[in-house]
Amino acid sequence: MQFAKRLQTLQSNVFADMDRAKAVARSAGRQIIDLSLGSSDLPAQAHVIEAIAQSLHDQSTHGYLLFHGTQAFRQAAAQWYEQKFGISVDPETEVLPLIGSQEGTAHLPLALLDPGDFALLLDPGYPSHAGGVYLASGQIYPMPLLAENNFLPVLADIPAAVLAQSRMMVLSYPHNPTAAIAPLSFFQEAVAFCQQHNLVLVHDFPYVDLVFEETGDWRKKVHGDNSLPASLSPRVPASSSRSLVPSILQADPDKSVSIEFFTLSKSYNMGGFRIGYAIGNAQLINALRQVKAAVDFNQYRGILNGAIAALTGPQAGVKDSVATFRKRRDAFINALHQIGWQVPTPKATMYIWAKLPAQWNQNSIEFCTQLVKQTGVAASPGAGFGKSGEGYVRFALVHEPPLLEAAVRRIAEFL
Ligand SMILES: Cc1ncc(COP(=O)(O)O)c(C=O)c1O
Repeated sequence: MQFAKRLQTLQSNVFADMDRAKAVARSAGRQIIDLSLGSSDLPAQAHVIEAIAQSLHDQSTHGYLLFHGTQAFRQAAAQWYEQKFGISVDPETEVLPLIGSQEGTAHLPLALLDPGDFALLLDPGYPSHAGGVYLASGQIYPMPLLAENNFLPVLADIPAAVLAQSRMMVLSYPHNPTAAIAPLSFFQEAVAFCQQHNLVLVHDFPYVDLVFEETGDWRKKVHGDNSLPASLSPRVPASSSRSLVPSILQADPDKSVSIEFFTLSKSYNMGGFRIGYAIGNAQLINALRQVKAAVDFNQYRGILNGAIAALTGPQAGVKDSVATFRKRRDAFINALHQIGWQVPTPKATMYIWAKLPAQWNQNSIEFCTQLVKQTGVAASPGAGFGKSGEGYVRFALVHEPPLLEAAVRRIAEFL
């Protein structure tokens, strides 16, 4: 049987290898502490489950759901966005429901790239960003993220020849796997750069709510910096539900080149329900809708009803989740520091991005394979997120502090 060449680009997957290493360790009798997957272990909210449960018994939810039927969801998403960021959004033309943010970011390159065109991606970055480019037969230009640059790409380093063939740039902050946060000033630089080079700016934004402290940047700018031209001046939402981190559209309020992807997987612990949405430039939303129309009929209406309940209902559960992840972060970081592994404390996300001890000689795959084999602690090798992720390991904080501390004790013995 002959398969398309693009399938080969999807075949090397460090995470599948790690899965096998976990299975081997399990069958050798190891008790696994799995910190390798960023899938929240916390439950979805009761009012969300209730909305879905009621929908199940409503026969009108059982059929195909065409776009006109998603209006209530699109309105809820637009309203949520306006409350958080103070930017108005047209639910008819500027919002698109998705079957998770991964689905949307992986499909978008089909609407933007012709074979051979470049996409500029963060390195390290979320694997499906690259997967979508490969599916569209595009090429990837990896923008290295280095600790000395606060894990932000240096846009001036992108070669002119690559830029001439590039159609899109993908950013994602708070960032998986480095947990870095981007200041609004960086987003403004990226928007200006994409406008200048005729690039679409994609921002994958799943960790919008998983932020542990004020990052200060964009609100300070609003009140203290009059040097920005009016068109670049970010707006601030009046409501107390405002976000602690900036949206890309605050740097591109006219939605000239940008599209942003949200998910209910992280803020509302709904990863298994597969629901997200895109907000942004109406032409981009329409283009992605056209691709999706060839592929799917939207998520099940009952799950959209659950998502509406999540977005418009009480938000105390979001705060509770953030408090839980903050507690876990502190417990894990303290335990690592006690065993002499100095790792910076992340301000956001559910991850710890740790530089490997020197004796591991920049071999994160070997480190993670041996770690799970000898101790049962599963982590993600930095190399799995891209070449510039080598030398690091990612721990996902998906267990309570006692188990995280037990994991660090095992790591200490291993080291
Ligand atoms: C950057 C990034 N994008 C997308 C996703 C997946 O989101 P969804 O569950 O909405 O597909 C994740 C999940 O870890 C992620 O880290």
